[in-house]
Amino acid sequence: MSKKVNINYNNLNFELDLVKGSENEIGIDISSLRNNANLITLDPGFKNTGSCKSSITFLDGEKGILRYRGYSIEDLANKANFLEVAYLLIFGELPNKKQLHDFSNDIKERAIIDEDLRIILNSYPRSAHPMGVLSSLTSGLVAFDPSAVNIDDEDDMYDAILNLLAKIPVLVAWVYRRRQGLPLEYGDINLGYVENLAKMMFQRPNKKYIQNDTIVSALNKLLILHADHEQNCSTSTVRIVGSSYAGLFASVSAGISALWGRLHGGANQAVLEMLEKIQNDGGDTKKFMSKAKDKSDPFRLMGFGHRVYKNFDPRAKIIKVAAHEVLKDLGIDDPVLDIAKALEKEALEDNYFVERKLYPNVDFYSGIIYKALEIPNEMFTVMFALGRLPGWIAHWREMRMNKEPIGRPRQIYIGENPRDYISLTKR
Ligand code: CMC
Repeated sequence: MSKKVNINYNNLNFELDLVKGSENEIGIDISSLRNNANLITLDPGFKNTGSCKSSITFLDGEKGILRYRGYSIEDLANKANFLEVAYLLIFGELPNKKQLHDFSNDIKERAIIDEDLRIILNSYPRSAHPMGVLSSLTSGLVAFDPSAVNIDDEDDMYDAILNLLAKIPVLVAWVYRRRQGLPLEYGDINLGYVENLAKMMFQRPNKKYIQNDTIVSALNKLLILHADHEQNCSTSTVRIVGSSYAGLFASVSAGISALWGRLHGGANQAVLEMLEKIQNDGGDTKKFMSKAKDKSDPFRLMGFGHRVYKNFDPRAKIIKVAAHEVLKDLGIDDPVLDIAKALEKEALEDNYFVERKLYPNVDFYSGIIYKALEIPNEMFTVMFALGRLPGWIAHWREMRMNKEPIGRPRQIYIGENPRDYISLTKR
């Protein structure tokens, strides 16, 4: 393979290096282009731009492959638990028994929130969107532990990472309970991470909480499936915010805000709202398919399409099966599942979707599971955020340890040329 690419511009030849990844992806290193040729590249939405080299997650959108640190998403979702996957993503290897035991215990030790944060949470209107509240509280955590993380000190880094992994599930549960008007409680230090999350969220003050294996297993799977997805919008946000040396909590808080939007993590809420709308409208899926294809109609088929998957999103395949299992185990017959399946079938046979390679993505079926677990629509993206937490942490850590430069894109200016100031009286 050639190791260089030649660009000819203004009758001058410039050589650019090629960079090859471990899965044979090839990129052109354009970092010398501006200095040598006075050119920059223009790529709105970064559709074709690699922002870093990373060893965390591999994704082949054409083949529908997703691997965390080399392990297939199918294996991890069906065989691992969320904490193992979090450890794997952040530190690079699956933990052995002792490492996992210590990791889990160290997280439990840190799962305490300063009582004053309750005051902040309680001062938000109960109707506030949980994503805004979670982002704000995550940033608020900094105020209670303002010391900056010394990234060259392994213990310091470990402490910051575990603090976040420990406190965010408590905040997630609290945000949910506050919306429901339930007392803010801690779970049980003797429980596993996901079991404790279920208890913290669903326990009622006047009755003993009984664990349900279907709920725990569904939550575990969903958290793993959301745990990382390389340089998506929120992860890129975390990396770019962190590249200015903003702390881990502040960077993750920014990631939560980026995830909130309906083109990204907010799609899971939007999908269920769409399915319910179709149901309430009489269930005519064809009508909504036409709307999705009509360029003059802003309606999009939410949960369909993906920037990098031009084939089935492997996570959607797993979640579709899980949705069936969860509904069956919990004895739920939800007509929105039938609407979702009908939309999927029609889209996969429709030229508009086939030509554009639009397939169901991770968000298409996840809301149906959350709904079956009695999690309200506005909490869906919060659940996604909790799942994505190890990914954000892993990327923040990788970016800082690789000593990546501050993220600062360039632009092509298309505004006015120089002109004279006109005094107010003459305008
Ligand atoms: N419904 C109808 N048309 C669509 C859809 C859709 N869901 N998605 C893309 N298209 C069309 C789009 O109109 C465009 O058509 P044309 O070429 O005629 O102009 C073409 O497909 C390419 O779309 P794009 O918006 O240029 O593609 P993108 O890579 O910029 O956007 C996307 C990807 C995920 C934002 C988009 O597919 C979308 O809006 N999907 C719905 C929202 C959604 O489900 N988001 C969750 C993404 S997965 C979770 C995550 O990781 O964030």
